[in-house]
Amino acid sequence: MAFALGEHSLEAAPWQQLQPLLDACFPRPPRNVFERVLAASHRRQRLWIAAAQGGELLGMVMLCPHSKGGHLDNLAVAPQARGQGVGKALVHRLIADTSPAGPGMVSLTTRIPEFFEPLGFQHCGQLADGSTAMMVLLPQTPSITAR
Ligand SMILES: CC(C)(COP(=O)(O)OP(=O)(O)OC[C@H]1O[C@@H](n2cnc3c(N)ncnc32)[C@H](O)[C@@H]1OP(=O)(O)O)[C@@H](O)C(=O)NCCC(=O)NCCS
Repeated sequence: MAFALGEHSLEAAPWQQLQPLLDACFPRPPRNVFERVLAASHRRQRLWIAAAQGGELLGMVMLCPHSKGGHLDNLAVAPQARGQGVGKALVHRLIADTSPAGPGMVSLTTRIPEFFEPLGFQHCGQLADGSTAMMVLLPQTPSITAR
């Protein structure tokens, strides 16, 4: 069978055809996969900022969300604000705000795994650029089972 392949813009996706496809491939219950796909298609990166009372920017962290949590990126604390718990607080907050209704995880790559180990992240392996891949499993809601 000959067929063509290509990336498609999410904004112009043929949702009316994709829904029956997903319904046929992922019968519900346990969950409506089409609704999850639709919701995920509107996701953008998330950003958390730490600021001093006077408004001075102290630090930031970002998350690229996915259906099971997301990938942590761009953790940065201003040099003058380091060593006071800002970085740790940003990661804790990101994890707390990211926990999905069901099972989930946050991944990252880093050159300072020692910083993330006490925060619960486990080593997954080494990338070719020398950075370390890590992930933490998020707290699960007991009533929801993974597929
Ligand atoms: C790494 C960084 C985010 C840490 O921010 P911070 O606000 O100084 O960190 P915290 O004060 O919250 O430190 C929390 C703990 O991590 C430790 N820690 C801090 N920086 C660390 C580092 N570079 N390596 C290992 N451990 C570190 C602290 O000693 C502290 O330990 P404790 O809880 O036992 O006291 C900050 O130094 C930074 O922005 N660095 C440059 C950018 C960078 O490397 N980002 C990470 C990319 S993945």
